[in-house]
Amino acid sequence: MRIILYLGKGGVGKTTVSASTATSIARSGKRVLIMSTDVAHSLADAFSVELSPVPLEVEKNLFAMEVNVLADIRENWTELYAYFSSILMHDGANEIVAEELAIVPGMEEMISLRYIWKAAKSGDYDVVIVDAAPTGETMRLLGMPESYGWYTEKIGGWQSKAIGLAAPLISKFMSKKNIFRLMPEVNEHMKELHGMLQDKSVTTFRVVLNPENMVIKEALRVQTYLNLFGYKLDAAIVNKILPDRSGDSYLQSLIDLQTKYLRIIENCFFPLPIFRAKQATAEVINADRLHELSKEMFGDKNPADVLYTNDRTQTLEKINGKYVLSLYLPNVEVTKLNVNIKGDELLVDINNFRKSIILPNVLVGRKTEGADFAEGNLNITFAN
Ligand SMILES: Nc1ncnc2c1ncn2[C@@H]1O[C@H](COP(=O)(O)OP(=O)(O)OP(=O)(O)O)[C@@H](O)[C@H]1O
Ligand SMILES: [Mg+2]
Repeated sequence: MRIILYLGKGGVGKTTVSASTATSIARSGKRVLIMSTDVAHSLADAFSVELSPVPLEVEKNLFAMEVNVLADIRENWTELYAYFSSILMHDGANEIVAEELAIVPGMEEMISLRYIWKAAKSGDYDVVIVDAAPTGETMRLLGMPESYGWYTEKIGGWQSKAIGLAAPLISKFMSKKNIFRLMPEVNEHMKELHGMLQDKSVTTFRVVLNPENMVIKEALRVQTYLNLFGYKLDAAIVNKILPDRSGDSYLQSLIDLQTKYLRIIENCFFPLPIFRAKQATAEVINADRLHELSKEMFGDKNPADVLYTNDRTQTLEKINGKYVLSLYLPNVEVTKLNVNIKGDELLVDINNFRKSIILPNVLVGRKTEGADFAEGNLNITFAN
């Protein structure tokens, strides 16, 4: 069983690339579920069908669904939901506002994660592909399994504090004793899912980007944040590449700009494999076109495989109380090394090769204390 997650900035082509990967894996004979966890769904548009939280077989072996967080809360989490809205109403919020606010922070992520867990455990699919929301939301989603224990404890704490206050209202909705009966069970599921996400033979993270400045920065941020959670990328997908040249000077200047950014992408994501897809002249929708796109991107590689197996790419660890960022740069002979920090960006110049890394918040504003090169790794130590 494999789980594949595509991440990246809004609009880069995550849904298109996810749907395209799903189609080609299904056509190779495996059972695939593609699931959208984005509140603003567009998976249905990619396949030109109506989708719901119940998997629909779009074509042989290819199932698609869209998670509907709000409906799920109303159907399956009424106890918790009613509990929080009753507390808010007790504190003076009107009913409608209370209903909106009662979606506990983290609840949406938790619901999406439960769907991933359920699909992965069902035994119904060989591959589960997650078409995720843009970076920020998905990073919260991926950090969630780790922090879930903390989260349930916190809710447990609220329960004991608030129960006295809201007791008369709560009794209107439910019996007190079963409010939190689901919590320990969900906790177990989250732990199990966390294990699956951390297992590189099960879960694969890929970033989708375009040859554009801000999109590249966001993709680098994705890589850094994945590293913080202990996850690694196995590929970068560069989408919407313009043709090699054009007779039109306006288009040619856009092509030149993309050429510059394509080189930057090659440096920044090295040594990960990079797959490319051209900007199509029409929208890439429907299974046949999505399948063509996958062939264009992956060639003879199987997108269901783990595409980069070497564990060594980029790591961020705390060693002896200090943060050390390690970059795997095999076959690089260092004659000139320069490390500079510009805002939240770390620029590493080695000979004529420049790699940039977006620093996580904990490292922004810190100075570098030293850099050494050992066994193909460049290790940069940050001051406390
Ligand atoms: N290679 C391509 N050629 C032409 N159009 C494309 C290509 N890839 C994606 N598109 C179009 O770009 C738009 C955005 O793509 P898509 O919805 O896949 O991005 P996304 O990253 O999922 O966006 P969001 O962050 O909003 O979910 C869509 O209209 C899609 O049809
Ligand atoms: Mg999308």
